[in-house]
Amino acid sequence: MEKRILVTGATGTVGNETVKALSAMGAHVRAGLRSVVKGENLKRLPGVEVVEIDFSRPATLTAAFTGIDTSFLITPFDEHQVEMAKQLIDAAQKAGVRHVVRLSASGAEAEPGIQLGRWHREAEQYLEAAHLHYTHLRPTSFMQNFVNQHAQSIQEENAFYLPLGNGRVTYIDVRDIAAVAASILLHPEGHDGMAYTLTGAEALSGDEVASALSQATGRAISYVDVPEEAARNAMQQHQLPAWMIDSLLELNGICKANYASGTTDTVQEITGRPPHTFADFAETYKACF
Ligand SMILES: NC(=O)c1ccc[n+]([C@@H]2O[C@H](COP(=O)([O-])OP(=O)(O)OC[C@H]3O[C@@H](n4cnc5c(N)ncnc54)[C@H](OP(=O)(O)O)[C@@H]3O)[C@@H](O)[C@H]2O)c1
Repeated sequence: MEKRILVTGATGTVGNETVKALSAMGAHVRAGLRSVVKGENLKRLPGVEVVEIDFSRPATLTAAFTGIDTSFLITPFDEHQVEMAKQLIDAAQKAGVRHVVRLSASGAEAEPGIQLGRWHREAEQYLEAAHLHYTHLRPTSFMQNFVNQHAQSIQEENAFYLPLGNGRVTYIDVRDIAAVAASILLHPEGHDGMAYTLTGAEALSGDEVASALSQATGRAISYVDVPEEAARNAMQQHQLPAWMIDSLLELNGICKANYASGTTDTVQEITGRPPHTFADFAETYKACF
């Protein structure tokens, strides 16, 4: 029988690509979204139905998980993300979902690690203790962060600013996370109890990222390494909350120290094709810059 799949956070960066990937693979997928208006583009895809999910309204969770076989649980970067994840896991278990894939982050298993990783590990442990089959996906930093966070300064100043020094990062294209998730959601056999660190194939410095963006756009784009205090001040000026500033600076600190520069072969092993390179990403998204 055809699997019924639910993706939460379906209007987000990873959720959107995952729903598209599942639809392209001919799956029947329920896209869980907070704003039905934002989900208009998803509604038009073959095999996709949309359902409202608001983590602050538990009744929406009960309805969304009813009749679901496998589910991809995505929660936002939020100081309440652990409670959100626990609520989703409880709702999935109650509804009898067979297998849950959960979006975590690389380094979640590190001890003592960083705040972001500790939040994800707490949610992972809650899932491990639940009566569900599960798979943790632990991606590195997304290439699409350059679209979501840096497109404006690249468009206006031909530069992006980050406190990364000469640290190298193995960015991953969100389309590869989506392809891995879709494959496991459709064929979960063999993935129960697994934790997969998902990376791109190459660790890049800020200058190498700038060079790939320059190549794709035909303009000279620069990476500007900023001191941590300057990065903190800029985020404060943009009125980011203190918890977010602290956790982003902590994350940038480990990237600067090269702790985010490892690679795995998992994308290739699960999808049968190599991950997108940063050059591929830059070419596809060049209109955003
Ligand atoms: N960015 C990175 O480099 C990176 C790397 C590794 C791991 N991660 C992890 O990836 C996850 C975030 O994924 P993403 O970037 O795809 O997320 P995202 O683009 O920020 O989207 C978050 C999704 O959650 C939904 N949402 C937020 N609050 C909600 C609520 N109260 N009720 C229902 N839905 C709600 C949003 O809906 P609306 O559209 O309505 O707001 C949206 O669909 C985080 O756990 C983060 O730690 C990120």
